[in-house]
Amino acid sequence: MDASNATALQNLLARRRSVRRYTGDPIPLSAVLNILSAGQGRTSSEGKRTAPSAHALYPLTLGVIVRRVEGLSPGFYAFEPDSAQLTVSGPSLAAGVLNGAALGDETWLEDAAVVVVIIANRDLAIQHFAEQQADGLRGARYVDFEAGAVAQNMYLAVTAQGLGAVVVMGFDDGAMKRTFELDETRQPVALFCVGQPAV
Ligand SMILES: Cc1cc2nc3c(=O)[nH]c(=O)nc-3n(C[C@H](O)[C@H](O)[C@H](O)COP(=O)(O)O)c2cc1C
Repeated sequence: MDASNATALQNLLARRRSVRRYTGDPIPLSAVLNILSAGQGRTSSEGKRTAPSAHALYPLTLGVIVRRVEGLSPGFYAFEPDSAQLTVSGPSLAAGVLNGAALGDETWLEDAAVVVVIIANRDLAIQHFAEQQADGLRGARYVDFEAGAVAQNMYLAVTAQGLGAVVVMGFDDGAMKRTFELDETRQPVALFCVGQPAV
C-alpha cells in the first residue's frame, strides 16, 4: 500500500460512525453493490472474498432488503458474490416487521433505504471445525468473527460513499428467522441498515 492509500484508509477509519437517522432519499444501485462487494465480493480466481473466512469455508450469505434503491424494485434479494449481482429472493417485508423482532425500539430498521441481513450456516461451520476443540463449537465462534469482518468492510464502503449505516444484533433470533423464512440451516447473525444520513 502506498502512502496515499494508507492515509485514505486512516481517514475512512476515523470517519466511520454508526448512523441511525436517514433521509427518505434513495441510494444508487452502484453504491449498494459496492457495499455488498466490500462485505462478500469475490476477489480471487479460486473464489476467495473480501472478508477472511476460516478454511475459506464461507458460511455467510448476504440477504438484502431493498426499500429505496434507484433502478431496483423494493423486495428481498440475495447477493451473489461471484457475479456481484442481486437476485430476487423473496417479497417485500411489511412495515414494522423488523422493528417488531428487535429487542429495543430500533426505528432505523424501518427507516433505512436498505437493510443487509448477514445470514450464517452455523451448523456447517460447527461440523467443519468440530475436531478443533472439545466443546465442538469453535465453528460458531468463527462465524461471528467472520460476520464482524464483513460488517466492518461494509461500514468502510458506506463511509467512503458518504452514506450512513449501523449494525444491529439486538433482535429475537427466532422472530427474525421467521421473518426471513429461513430454513433450519440458516440463521440471521446481524442486520446492517444503510441510508442517506440525515444531518
Ligand atoms: C456486536 C455489535 C452489536 C451491535 N448491536 C447494535 C444494535 O442492536 N443496535 C444498534 O443501534 N447498534 C448496535 N451496534 C452499534 C454500536 O452501538 C456502535 O458501534 C457503538 O455505539 C459505537 O459507535 P460507532 O459505531 O459510531 O463507533 C452494535 C455494534 C456491535 C459491534
